[in-house]
Amino acid sequence: MYEICPETAADEYEVESLYDLCFAPGRTALSSYRLRDGVSKVADLCLLLRDPTGILLAAIRYWPVRVGEHSTLLLGPIAVHPTAQGEGLGGLLMRDSLTRAQKLGWGRVLLVGDAPYYSRFGFEKLDGVEMPPPTNPDRVLGLELQPGAWVDIAGLVTRETSQDVPPGLAEAAGNSHLSSACIEVEHPRDDTIADESGDFATDQRSFGSGSG
Ligand SMILES: CC(C)(COP(=O)(O)OP(=O)(O)OC[C@H]1O[C@@H](n2cnc3c(N)ncnc32)[C@H](O)[C@@H]1OP(=O)(O)O)[C@@H](O)C(=O)NCCC(=O)NCCS
Repeated sequence: MYEICPETAADEYEVESLYDLCFAPGRTALSSYRLRDGVSKVADLCLLLRDPTGILLAAIRYWPVRVGEHSTLLLGPIAVHPTAQGEGLGGLLMRDSLTRAQKLGWGRVLLVGDAPYYSRFGFEKLDGVEMPPPTNPDRVLGLELQPGAWVDIAGLVTRETSQDVPPGLAEAAGNSHLSSACIEVEHPRDDTIADESGDFATDQRSFGSGSG
């Protein structure tokens, strides 16, 4: 069995090594990293996927940011070990983390990435949402986890400076046990498993169309 678990402090070196392997040198010079400097990750949503022997195959992280005055999730980085890319593991982590985010009460997600990949999860180009330069606006994508969550949301993306729990998340705090656990998953190549992703694959069909 493969396992998806929240990242812990002990995993830090392994995760950074995976990102160094998967991204071009100088990745931390990207402007999106300035939004993460000095800000704690959203711990429940930073997930690792390990194979049955414990080898780290994929990792995803999230940070809180602001779009204008609005609390928003910044998705990324996500990376899959080069020897395991194209097997559906990235999709597993995307869907599982987005399902957890929804259960935790997050309304909207932002990322900078390739629309041809992320559109399969319901992400759409965001108009009027400005990442720190230099960022190609065509790569600024959003997803609604709650209907209408991106409607009339625009402006500069800035660092989250508040320590307060964003509105909506406090009410969902009772769901934390649903979103902080390890889960076992079949390898996606095993097509006898119809859909390991659970809720989100169904939900995003209704939420995805409103993004943008
Ligand atoms: C991008 C990444 C996370 C995808 O994970 P993965 O496990 O390899 O992808 P999956 O197996 O879930 O999906 C494979 C599909 O995505 C497509 N795909 C992968 N990367 C893509 C990209 N950058 N643009 C468009 N399509 C892409 C593949 O062509 C394949 O398409 P198909 O289903 O039509 O055959 C992984 O390839 C990776 O780590 N790449 C290097 C780091 C990176 O670019 N991270 C994303 C930026 S934050």
